[in-house]
Amino acid sequence: MLRDHLGIETVLDGCSPQGQCGCCTVLVDDAPRVACVTPARRVAGRHVTTAAGLSAAEQQRWSDAFLACGATQCGFCTPGIVCRFVGHERRGADLSDRTTVDKALAAHLCRCTGWQTIREAAAHAAAPPSPDATERDPDAAARRASIETGGPQRSVAASVLGGFDFGADAAPPSTLTAIAGPDGNWHTAESLTEARRRAGKVQGRRTTLEPSPPIEIPEPPPGTQWAVQLATCWTEPAYLETDAAWCEPGGNPSDPLANGGAFGGKTTSPVRDEARQLAADLDQPVRVLWSREDTVRRGPKRPPLAAGLSTNGTGIVRIARTPGAADVLRSVLPHAEVVEVDTPGPPTSMNLRAAVWAEAQMLAAALSRLQAGELLEATTAAVEVRSPEGATASATVSPDGIELHIDAGDPLDEVTLRSYVIGASHMAWSWVTSEALSVDANGEIQDLTIRSFGIARSADTPHIDVTIKPSQQPPVQAGNAVFAAVAAATWLSRGAPAQLPTS
Ligand code: FES
Ligand code: FES
Repeated sequence: MLRDHLGIETVLDGCSPQGQCGCCTVLVDDAPRVACVTPARRVAGRHVTTAAGLSAAEQQRWSDAFLACGATQCGFCTPGIVCRFVGHERRGADLSDRTTVDKALAAHLCRCTGWQTIREAAAHAAAPPSPDATERDPDAAARRASIETGGPQRSVAASVLGGFDFGADAAPPSTLTAIAGPDGNWHTAESLTEARRRAGKVQGRRTTLEPSPPIEIPEPPPGTQWAVQLATCWTEPAYLETDAAWCEPGGNPSDPLANGGAFGGKTTSPVRDEARQLAADLDQPVRVLWSREDTVRRGPKRPPLAAGLSTNGTGIVRIARTPGAADVLRSVLPHAEVVEVDTPGPPTSMNLRAAVWAEAQMLAAALSRLQAGELLEATTAAVEVRSPEGATASATVSPDGIELHIDAGDPLDEVTLRSYVIGASHMAWSWVTSEALSVDANGEIQDLTIRSFGIARSADTPHIDVTIKPSQQPPVQAGNAVFAAVAAATWLSRGAPAQLPTS
């Protein structure tokens, strides 16, 4: 109702009607409510407040806090989180207390920031420190953000409060919404609800099928054992803004990457072409909107692999056939035989964050530890990697948390770089410890809800300590190096088990 009938696009939709991402959170008489599963009849006669409807003082304080802490990146999750925090605050909650904030965040998903800077923003808003004497340069911050995401990204007050136009937003009122039905055909209507009804769309479900690696670890030579084994599952990039674009007949489609790179997941998204074609066919503006289920089914995943290696680096790595994957493996593991296999499942892509290169770095880190005469059983592990982009990340993972030292050339804006480093660390730690998609033997994805991907919650995420090296060198992207170093150190700190996620 808010988006379709009242045209309030500051309320965002990351999974409706699953009610699991929190992006659509509003206040109903000061109580945070997930709008997409709240029937309008239940709020008759009550006040509904969106982030854009908060008081001017609340808007200022919360956007200041999120921007000061680097707590928003793509901004798709942010207005819902701000609404929830304000709701708790109005009821007297202490938002400087981590447990309170973790509980509040349990109803949300943020894929970009890794939670920590959001917790810091909550504490900042609860007790704003005296104004920082250090002036930040918003253009430098935007430049660092764009280097990290591979596309334009700005963190401004508008993105904290939902005023930023995403791929589905700002279409003219006559725009039809197009939904792909289970039959693969497009179904259009004036509202999302009606288009879904016409499409007969049943929204995603969760399964009891346990995720498991789709490729078997190769047998070692007779009478021997591999020194290092690793098999990975299908994993979902889980960017919050599902693929969406709108187009007028003969016009240019809106950008599904309006404020962020989706970690490489939308690089080849077909929604712009789909919107352009449908607008031409129907001679009317059309908005193509993927549901969460569509994004999971159609969006690319990291290519799963299964490896068995001897201490000297010889052995076999099997990888789901993906253009470019074998070359990356051979560049990091030159003594291993790389075998591409066809395995039924969702599409794969090397565009996703450090895809395959991070997995290869994990194996290389285990080998170098063994070659140095060390055991793989450890509770603390340190790994340093240098990315092809030229960034260096040193990660130490221990029961106390994650410690990172980063050299990414000129930081440009430390707050922004730190935010991306923490986000990439969380994504790596979460991937190694808890993320996987259930895909059946026919390659059909069975986990279609955003909560089923296993993304680590705020409460479960260790503290991440970041030190950034000052530098006058040209700025380079840090995220891939951070992802690989943290993934490798996390895996080694758990004894390098043969299968991800490690639990
Ligand atoms: S869109 Fe409502 S919870 Fe995700
Ligand atoms: S900033 Fe939270 S999902 Fe992007």
